[in-house]
Amino acid sequence: MTGSAQTPAIELRGLVKRFGGKTVLDGMDLTAMAGDSVAVIGASGCGKSVSFKCALGLLPMDAGSVRFAGTPRDELPSSGSQALMRRSGVLFQGNALFDSLPIWENVAFALFHTGPMRRAEAYELAITKLAEVGLDERAANLYPPELSGGMQKRAAIARAVAADPEFLFFDEPTSGLDPVTAATIDRLIEDCVTRLRATTVTITHDLASVRKIANRVAMLHGGRIVWEGPVSELDRSGSAHVEQFVRGRTDGSSTGGPPP
Ligand SMILES: Nc1ncnc2c1ncn2[C@@H]1O[C@H](COP(=O)(O)OP(=O)(O)OP(=O)(O)O)[C@@H](O)[C@H]1O
Ligand SMILES: [Mg+2]
Repeated sequence: MTGSAQTPAIELRGLVKRFGGKTVLDGMDLTAMAGDSVAVIGASGCGKSVSFKCALGLLPMDAGSVRFAGTPRDELPSSGSQALMRRSGVLFQGNALFDSLPIWENVAFALFHTGPMRRAEAYELAITKLAEVGLDERAANLYPPELSGGMQKRAAIARAVAADPEFLFFDEPTSGLDPVTAATIDRLIEDCVTRLRATTVTITHDLASVRKIANRVAMLHGGRIVWEGPVSELDRSGSAHVEQFVRGRTDGSSTGGPPP
């Protein structure tokens, strides 16, 4: 990794994103230092997934800058976004597995992109990565629609971390899962963060998950980060938006509701 200890690993500055006349992001700033695990929280529809796609260059933005280890995304060697995708592991909301490929090949997909690899070698590696998330060889040879939601999520996480990325992006890794499976996924993410020492940004509605996997938390509201701080200060943030989010998650009411 390039950059000094003071250079943020991931830095979003003044992100603006509009769809037609509607402004979704209105000057969003977010900083993650190397090895940080930042949770981005906020009500449904506030622009969390959009910010994630803008950061990765999957959606064009109207203004702002994105830097990885101090380098503007567009100046990363060999065509910005592509190079970035090689150094990043991404879990999309809804998993985004290829339904026409068996699970092992979904995982191997990331490995093929890191350099030439024989199919047999990719298979073995994919099996190892899947075992790390608790999926056996039988599951590895099934197709995504044949797996339960929790198993698909595990497979998508295995794919995200397969190439030992420097940057990890998880969009709602535990949504729609029962509490036990969600806790397993949290442990997996925690393990990835510690083992790979990857700088991680996780978008989540799940307060239990925030407390387990993140060291810092950022609250998105009205297109901007309205509070940012260590996870230990989540319960004394002094931010009405954060308090509402925490209260909503704790007493079962909602500040926007989980996504489908
Ligand atoms: N491609 C698009 N075209 C037009 N509008 C879009 C597009 N993508 C997102 N939006 C709008 O941007 C807003 C933010 O969407 P986004 O998916 O980022 O919300 P979110 O915070 O991730 O919500 P959730 O928690 O439900 O996943 C929404 O109003 C959505 O309708
Ligand atoms: Mg979303």
